Amino acid sequence: MKVTSDKKKELYLTAKEALGRAYAPYSGFSVGAALLSVSGNIYTGTNVESGAFAAGICAERAALATAVTAGDREFAAIAVASSEGEAWPCGICRQALYEFSPEMEVITGSRDEDLFSEKLSDLLPHGFRLERK
Ligand code: THU
Repeated sequence: MKVTSDKKKELYLTAKEALGRAYAPYSGFSVGAALLSVSGNIYTGTNVESGAFAAGICAERAALATAVTAGDREFAAIAVASSEGEAWPCGICRQALYEFSPEMEVITGSRDEDLFSEKLSDLLPHGFRLERK
């Protein structure tokens, strides 16, 4: 599915708006994500940290959990924005997204006028796949 540059901007601005709701009192690094399903829905997520550090979740996987819970499993793109500007998804998030749509676009940048976009399968070559039962 082709994601137009207008749609990329919209997704990025949605991610940027979401990062204002991040809960990141330990790292001070706020992240927002906006995940576009092939069906046209947009799901947002923020990082949600925990005093028990390992219990925290990244913005991308928070958005993914919301999308799957709502019934969407095929994605065209995800935009990521952070309080420090450009931010690419961590390895765990790349793998979690790869499960559903390896060919989705990953978008980030410091401002909507200057975005970068890469295919997830280029960011995670030879991603892990387990046969579905
Ligand atoms: N974080 C994300 O939300 N997404 C990423 O892809 C990388 C890191 C969060 C986790 C933690 O709350 C903070 O950023 C600092 O690592």
